Amino acid sequence: MISLDEFERFRALIYGESGIALSEQKRTLLASRLTKRLRDLGLETFSDYYETVTRDSTREEFTRMLDLISTNKTDFFREPKHFEFLRDQVLPGVGPDKRIRIWSSACSTGEEPYTIAMTLYEGVEDPRQWEFEILASDLSTRVLAKAAAGVYDEDRFRDVPSEVLRRHFLRGRGDSAGKFKVKPHLASVVQFRRLNLMDDRFPIKAPLDLIFCRNVMIYFDRPTQETLVNKFYRYLKPGGYLFIGHSESLQWVQHPFAAVAPTIYRKET
Ligand SMILES: C[S@@+](CC[C@H](N)C(=O)[O-])C[C@H]1O[C@@H](n2cnc3c(N)ncnc32)[C@H](O)[C@@H]1O
Repeated sequence: MISLDEFERFRALIYGESGIALSEQKRTLLASRLTKRLRDLGLETFSDYYETVTRDSTREEFTRMLDLISTNKTDFFREPKHFEFLRDQVLPGVGPDKRIRIWSSACSTGEEPYTIAMTLYEGVEDPRQWEFEILASDLSTRVLAKAAAGVYDEDRFRDVPSEVLRRHFLRGRGDSAGKFKVKPHLASVVQFRRLNLMDDRFPIKAPLDLIFCRNVMIYFDRPTQETLVNKFYRYLKPGGYLFIGHSESLQWVQHPFAAVAPTIYRKET
C-alpha cells in the first residue's frame, strides 16, 4: 500500500506538472495503477518509483505514469454537436481568404483532430480552395505516436458514415485487414505536437479560429481551469470559439467569453 506521505508527494508532483488534481479518495486508485509499473521496473516501494520519475530528465517516465493515471478515452465524432456547430455556424462565417486554423489541445489518440478535419472537408464545396490547419497536441507522447500513425481498428469508426470513412481513410489489406489508415490529404492538414496545457506560453502561431479543449479540464481544479481558459482567450481571434467537453462547465470560472451554446464559448469582437 502507498503511505500517506508517498501519496502526497505523488499528488504534488502530478498537480505541479500536469494540473491534474487527485483527491484524497484517489489514493488506492493511484496505488493500484502504479503497482504493475513498479513491478516491471523491479522496484520495491512507491518512494523508489518517485525517485525514478523525478530523476528522469527526459520526462518519459513521468509521461508513462500520467498515461497510467489519466484516461485517454476518445472517439470519432464524440459529442457531435460541436462538429455540427463547426459545419453550420463556423464555416459559413469564414472570410474570403478561406482559411481556418484550429487547435485540438488535448487530442489523445487523434480521433478528435481527424474528426475536425473530416468535418472541414465534408463541410465546404471545394476543399482545394481552402487552407485548413489543425494543430493537435497532448501531453502524452504515447497517444501522440498513435495519433500520428493514424491507424485505427474498424470498430472505432462506428459513428462515421461509411461513405465519409471511405473518402478519408484507406482500408487495410492482408496483415492490416480490419484496420483503416488516414489518407494523405487528411493527414496533411493535421500537425501533432507535444504541449503541456500547464505551460505559461504556447509556441503557437496565434490567432486561432477555434480551440477544442474537451474532457481534460475535468481533471483540473478551478484555479487551473481559470488560468487555462484565460490563456486560451489570448490565442483566439475576435469572433473565435472555445469548445469544452459536455460534462464540463465554466460556470464557476471567471472568464471573458460569451456563452453561445452549451459548452461553446465565443471571444466577442
Ligand atoms: C480523455 S482525453 C480527451 C480526448 C479528446 N479531447 C476528447 O474529448 O475525446 C484527455 C487527454 O488529456 C491529456 N492531458 C492531461 N493533462 C494534460 C496537460 N496538462 N496538457 C495536455 N494534455 C493533457 C491526456 O494525456 C489525455 O490524452
